[in-house]
Amino acid sequence: MKHLTSTALAVVAAVGSATVGLAGGAQAQDAREFRIGMITPPAHVWNQEAAAMSETLSELSDGRFSVVVFPSGQLGNESTMLQQLQTGALDMAFLTTAEVTTRVPDIAALHAPFLVDDIADAAAILRSEPAKEMLEKLPAATGTVGPCFAMTGMRQLMTREPIESVGDLSGKRFRITPAPAIRTFFEMLGAAPAPMPLTQVYDALANGQIDAIDMDFESIINFRYYEHAPTMMVTNHHMFGMVALVSGRVWAGLPAEDQAIVREAVQTHCDAIIDRFVAEEAGKLERLKAVDGLTVVEDVGPEFFGDVVARWDTMWAEQTPYVATLRELAAGL
Ligand code: BEZ
Repeated sequence: MKHLTSTALAVVAAVGSATVGLAGGAQAQDAREFRIGMITPPAHVWNQEAAAMSETLSELSDGRFSVVVFPSGQLGNESTMLQQLQTGALDMAFLTTAEVTTRVPDIAALHAPFLVDDIADAAAILRSEPAKEMLEKLPAATGTVGPCFAMTGMRQLMTREPIESVGDLSGKRFRITPAPAIRTFFEMLGAAPAPMPLTQVYDALANGQIDAIDMDFESIINFRYYEHAPTMMVTNHHMFGMVALVSGRVWAGLPAEDQAIVREAVQTHCDAIIDRFVAEEAGKLERLKAVDGLTVVEDVGPEFFGDVVARWDTMWAEQTPYVATLRELAAGL
């Protein structure tokens, strides 16, 4: 607890006292429209499921609750949204797991390179007991409550120039989602990581500010990154998780029965997101293979990256025991 900011401490205290106070029989709240923010555009699966969550919440609450979605980083980038959740200025968010890794370093283990063989195993990890333990660390570390993880698929490499060997990645300016664990992987490859929010990636590729990107099929399709990065290496080199967050302050103000409604609705749509990504990932690859002018290099496995996976593990195992925990779990899937 000694590392907590005063805001996080206040939220933890508020969550605790609300639980005690409401045990005495607080009444369900009046109508409420929850504001949910995300960096992804309206076409993204997260946004579709956030809209569907409005209907689920309405059904579960006899029409009292609904959701209004703020897409495409309209409320700011992910770190801004996390701050808004802390203060209660924003009610909910679907954020990348990358965003919360600086607050909960254990979550960085989800980004271990080549942790899983395929997207079905990624789903199993995100629904596992160790993943639930990570979610329990969010209130103290971020002032938010995290009912569940979901995902945006597996990550691939897209480059402006064809890549023949791992040495060709050296010196390439690689756009990454801001997160130390992701940065480590690209630094170990000798690349020059360029952290930037999703909303800036297309323009950065178009104007030549970056040479390459670390990206998932869903976003590649939505944003047509292949228009400026015509080589895609199908690496599946890490899973890209999402975490559904509710402001701790907002949560603390809800009676227990309404917390249960929110938890159930959010969980329903985390599950729907995961199930959709698992079911649709192969079809997305087929769609991309049909794109004119896009060269798709399939089956680029960990061997392509030499000793980088082992070096990444050595470095990040010092930050969190969950690297070993998740490797063991993944090996048994
Ligand atoms: C990204 O930062 O690359 C990203 C964020 C959210 C969804 C998909 C991709």
